[in-house]
Amino acid sequence: MTRPRIYLSVPHMGPNEERYVREAFASNWLSSVGPNLDAFEASFTGLVGQPCVALASGTAALHLGLRLLGVGPGDEVMVSDLTFVASVNPIRYLGAEPVLVDSERGSWNMDPGLLARALDDRARRGRLPRAVVVVDLYGQSADMEPIVEACRRHGVPVLEDAAEAIGTTYRGRLAGTLGDVNVFSFNGNKIITTTAGGMLASPNREWVEKARFWSQQARDPRVEYHHTEMGYNYRMSNVLAGIGRGQLEVLEERVAQRRAVFDRYREAFAELPGLEPMPEAPFGRHTRWLSCFLVDEARLGVSRDELVRRLAAENVEARPVWKPMHLQPLYERCERVGGEVAADLYRRGLCLPSSSRLAPDEQDLVISLVRGARKV
Ligand SMILES: Cc1ncc(COP(=O)(O)O)c(C=O)c1O
Repeated sequence: MTRPRIYLSVPHMGPNEERYVREAFASNWLSSVGPNLDAFEASFTGLVGQPCVALASGTAALHLGLRLLGVGPGDEVMVSDLTFVASVNPIRYLGAEPVLVDSERGSWNMDPGLLARALDDRARRGRLPRAVVVVDLYGQSADMEPIVEACRRHGVPVLEDAAEAIGTTYRGRLAGTLGDVNVFSFNGNKIITTTAGGMLASPNREWVEKARFWSQQARDPRVEYHHTEMGYNYRMSNVLAGIGRGQLEVLEERVAQRRAVFDRYREAFAELPGLEPMPEAPFGRHTRWLSCFLVDEARLGVSRDELVRRLAAENVEARPVWKPMHLQPLYERCERVGGEVAADLYRRGLCLPSSSRLAPDEQDLVISLVRGARKV
């Protein structure tokens, strides 16, 4: 019998998700309104302490969030270079241009010093960006205090893209609470999921209500169908919100499980030269949504790409770290701030299977395949 494939990150349901979904069927709330949506948003607000609106995806939340911040044609938006393409595409949806900011090595996220200097320089030239999008990578927060401080100094709003960082903390606060607008994803590969989905949160209640309005085709409150603004069909379904309700109940458990998978790898690889774990910055809790390592080929005796191939040959999924936006044909012409940190993290970075339900024998297999791939 062939062993089932081991994936990078799979969904992990708790005891109640199916019950909430059944309730949607039983009550016939099979729509983009209903009690699961209200309950999911109320629980999420309980978690992050901000009004929020549940949407069809994290990408939709980014699109609406940037529009709330006034981003439009001809604007520039500064954004983390090392990220998934969904952090950046919505800038272009609105006709604006991304400016890509390099990472710092301590967190792999946007370098606050680089950002602050670039904003000072742009202020002198009268070319401030309309907004800054800061990404929290792989379950670790960016160093938000100096980033927000630099942006405040210049009156530039911050969108925190915490798509990968539900449950992450920064100096005792939750990631995804520190921007003017905050965005989360419940895509199927995330630490908790609604199969597909996203959330927009903000301390500004009016903005959240505006996003809700836009997400439902911007229909004005009249009897007849009347529209003065352009909207989108971006609302989450009440069925999927049922899954979200159940998933929120097990979030802390999932964080502990993901961290345990990472700890197991770290201990097992401690003796191996040339396999360096993604650091956990002193300012917060890394959820280890994905277990990431840097491969030093000369010391480990095998390259990152060869490791990915060896694992794939055994039906185990591993992936390179995100390819920075400046190396993407779509964004290679964008202006850049900083040097080659993101490119280096990409060239050497490896994501190993990280699911919260990854069984101990599956973890052992991953560990032995990595060990065995070395040419000694
Ligand atoms: C950093 C980042 N931003 C945005 C997104 C987009 O979220 P979604 O897939 O829910 O549209 C993702 C993941 O998918 C992501 O990793």
